[in-house]
Amino acid sequence: MNIAIFCSGNGTNLQAIINSQKKGHIKAEIKLVVSDVPGCCALTRAKNAGINIGINILVVERKNFKTKKDFEAEFLKALKKEDIGLIVLAGYMRMLSEDFIAAYENKILNIHPALLPSFKGTQGIKDAFEYGVKLTGTTVHFVTKDMDSGPVILQSSVKVTEDDTEETLAEAVHEEEHKIYPRAIQLFVDGKLKIEGRRIRILD
Ligand code: GRF
Repeated sequence: MNIAIFCSGNGTNLQAIINSQKKGHIKAEIKLVVSDVPGCCALTRAKNAGINIGINILVVERKNFKTKKDFEAEFLKALKKEDIGLIVLAGYMRMLSEDFIAAYENKILNIHPALLPSFKGTQGIKDAFEYGVKLTGTTVHFVTKDMDSGPVILQSSVKVTEDDTEETLAEAVHEEEHKIYPRAIQLFVDGKLKIEGRRIRILD
């Protein structure tokens, strides 16, 4: 199976996925890294890894296209060319259109830095910290047309202590992300995720 990873920022999840794939845990090829932000750290990570494992890199800026449809058409072209069977959103900061999601139904994963359905949106860690929850964490889920709402694949919790700052909490959440995202991808690639409505059954 060929995987595409979409990112817009730091790329620490991308790195964790690349590391896991290199160790042989994810039995698939990372064929394509897509970004809408030229010069983001994730692209540097992809370039460094790509030297060894031959990742293709596509950078497409939204401002260069009149419509979202035209913008996404660039991605779709590359996904088709590379025969992509799984799209992994790893800090990709744009909503995909319904048409795009429909074209890859049940083949797009996302990671969110909170225990969904709590603290949806772009600031999951900050929002959970400011709310004062004692427990937060991270969620890997399938992508559906509504933001942060698709069926949950894996979650991992993180305790919020009285000594935590938003920064220390972010570190702890990211540490969990780097464990569960490669694991969820591995399960997908191995055909071990069975979708039963909103529930995901993990097969032995
Ligand atoms: C992660 O916290 C992820 O949950 C969210 O965006 C962040 C991406 O971080 N969707 P990185 O770019 O992988 O370091």
